[in-house]
Amino acid sequence: MTDLSHPIFARLYPRLDAASARAGGDALRAELLAGTSGRVLEVGAGYGANFAHYPPEVTEVVAVEPEPRLRAKAEGMAARAPVPVTVRPGLAEELDLDDGSFDVAVASLVLCSVRDPVRVLAELRRVLKPGGELRYYEHIKGSTPGKVRFQRWADAVWPLLAAGCHVSRPTDRWIAASGFTVRAERRFEFPASGLNPASPHVIGVAVRD
Ligand SMILES: C[S@@+](CC[C@H](N)C(=O)[O-])C[C@H]1O[C@@H](n2cnc3c(N)ncnc32)[C@H](O)[C@@H]1O
Repeated sequence: MTDLSHPIFARLYPRLDAASARAGGDALRAELLAGTSGRVLEVGAGYGANFAHYPPEVTEVVAVEPEPRLRAKAEGMAARAPVPVTVRPGLAEELDLDDGSFDVAVASLVLCSVRDPVRVLAELRRVLKPGGELRYYEHIKGSTPGKVRFQRWADAVWPLLAAGCHVSRPTDRWIAASGFTVRAERRFEFPASGLNPASPHVIGVAVRD
């Protein structure tokens, strides 16, 4: 079973993300993908918000998305993308893809939502070529005791409202512990102000050891 059904989230997410794009999310997606080239795997691609940002040096994007309504929207975005994008169903925990077959793997706002992020990282490592890059843009566990407490409370309901998304995951630490060497990483608040448990973010590049 590779489909996940989240009809309300699938309807709302593109609208919420459009607002976030205007507030700086688009620039972050461009930063995430700048300098990528060759064959790229994107897991949990959603409605395809990243597709417009792939540079021309990318020869192919394989985009895996398990939610059928989001996948249908992603197919529309793929048709308008500047590089060839193939959208397919699947869970990031069990990729039906060959070992060492990608130059780049992309995880954007997805390791918060998958059931088993450590297993997903192992799968991404498996399908990357040695020296291949993991590009990541994720919201993460906060760095102050107050934020961490707030996130712990939020995580009692957040996953129910946001299709399994958790706000308190230390995804940056899991990446560094999963057979990748972090080459560049930046932590920041997005949005920069306001009461949002998902505001601590990280964007970075890690290389498959
Ligand atoms: C917050 S959305 C982010 C979508 C997209 N990556 C983006 O940057 O806009 C999280 C996505 O992860 C997908 N997802 C959830 N569990 C997954 C899994 N086990 N494997 C792959 N994708 C998953 C959801 O269907 C959804 O599209």
